Amino acid sequence: MLAAGRGKRMRSDRPKVIHSLGGTPLLEYPLRVARSLNPAKIAVVVGHGAPEVEGACSGEGVAWILQKEQLGTGHAVLCAKGTLADFPGDLLILSGDVPLVTATTLERLLHRHRQGKSSVTLLTAFLDNPTGYGRILRDSAGRILSVVEEKDASDAEKKIQEINSGMYAVDPGFLFPALEKLTNQNRQGEYYLPDIVGEAARGGRGIEAVRVEDPAEIRGINTREELAIMERSLQEKINRRCMESGVTLKDPMTTYIEEGVKIGKDTVIGPNTHLRGRTVLGEGCMIDGNAYVVDSRIGRGVHVKFSTVVLGSDLGDKSQVGPFAHLRPGSVLGANVHIGSFVEVKNSTVGEGTKANHLSYIGDTTVGKESNIGAGTITCNYDGFDKHRTTIGDRVQVGSNSQLVAPVVVEDDAYIAAGSTITRNVPAGALALSRVAQRHVSGWVERFRQMHRKK
Ligand code: UD1
Ligand code: CA
Repeated sequence: MLAAGRGKRMRSDRPKVIHSLGGTPLLEYPLRVARSLNPAKIAVVVGHGAPEVEGACSGEGVAWILQKEQLGTGHAVLCAKGTLADFPGDLLILSGDVPLVTATTLERLLHRHRQGKSSVTLLTAFLDNPTGYGRILRDSAGRILSVVEEKDASDAEKKIQEINSGMYAVDPGFLFPALEKLTNQNRQGEYYLPDIVGEAARGGRGIEAVRVEDPAEIRGINTREELAIMERSLQEKINRRCMESGVTLKDPMTTYIEEGVKIGKDTVIGPNTHLRGRTVLGEGCMIDGNAYVVDSRIGRGVHVKFSTVVLGSDLGDKSQVGPFAHLRPGSVLGANVHIGSFVEVKNSTVGEGTKANHLSYIGDTTVGKESNIGAGTITCNYDGFDKHRTTIGDRVQVGSNSQLVAPVVVEDDAYIAAGSTITRNVPAGALALSRVAQRHVSGWVERFRQMHRKK
């Protein structure tokens, strides 16, 4: 697998193959397909930004090979000589920037290669617009002669619609000696891997081509525009699959669901919703729209109201969150919990039936069942050095605009008077009150106004 190139046409500081498609690095796609074929060995040639690439992709069972200087695709494969030259089986060469190729297609390629006992078998396609790809040159009898790159092609050659996908099955015994003969006498000054085809033709060796049925499979990503187009078509495919399984998408054009997300039937998803990572939604949920949900589990019949962010959280059945709520990692809501507008929850467990409906911060807290957290309640969990926990029991009423200075425990059935700052544990069933007693200064307003009139 080739993944050492810089991806000049992306105009990026990051290596092209780790740009994300549907939330997953590009390289991860061909890697998955390669693994599904159960090969004896997977070697990935990296170079530009090698540590970043290795860090971003799952390296399980992968031999990373370093191509120090990116001198072309032929040179890249040659770098793997030490690892693969004595390999007794067939070699499949894939490209890190061609993500949608399927295992079925690669199996067909390998099958034909083995049947034909060829030295090299190319995966090709016919494209209406072949611009940018290497073209397959054939003689009058239809025998493959060579591959010519777009940049080196004559006007007549550019009209050829049969293109090189950049994926090949090869016999290692032929490949490595052929690579050593390559030159970089071309417009790009690179050692071209597809030049082995010309080498095979000159040596009278067996060359075959397998044509993909669906050219979309071999689309390569070279520019950000191509990436955006593929992102769109991938999203359309995922959205279609969702709808087929019984999920309503009110506006599929602005619904962004990642591959691994699971959604139960009769769930309705409003516009501009992003569902990412390992998110799972139960049946019969309502997502109003403008939601951003990552790595979260959402139960059945949950209502995620407009403009809500849910990260690494677990929402119990029939809970309601939002509008404008922010559930940060580690928020675990029981069934029927209500989290309302401008409420932020982090690393907290909220028991069944508890409500925090307005303007609150609940952090590092455990709240029991059927409690009510009044508007503007804040758990003061951070002293500048450490985070401390707040514990609130069952059926507790926390009055509006209260601060709970952690570590602190409010036991079952306690009441916190509105506007209190709670610094000590509150026993079960007690009323905690910590505010200055109210007094009235009679006639004060009139005296105040007179004073100003005299000025
Ligand atoms: C390549 C083929 C072209 C084919 C097209 C299909 C060559 C010379 N041309 O062109 O015939 O139609 O793919 O998509 O091979 N890479 C390295 N080391 C290098 C250069 C590139 O590892 O020194 C890697 C890149 O990271 C990339 C892959 O090889 O994953 C293909 O390179 P790229 O420059 O994209 O080749 P194309 O111009 O697309
Ligand atoms: Ca490419």
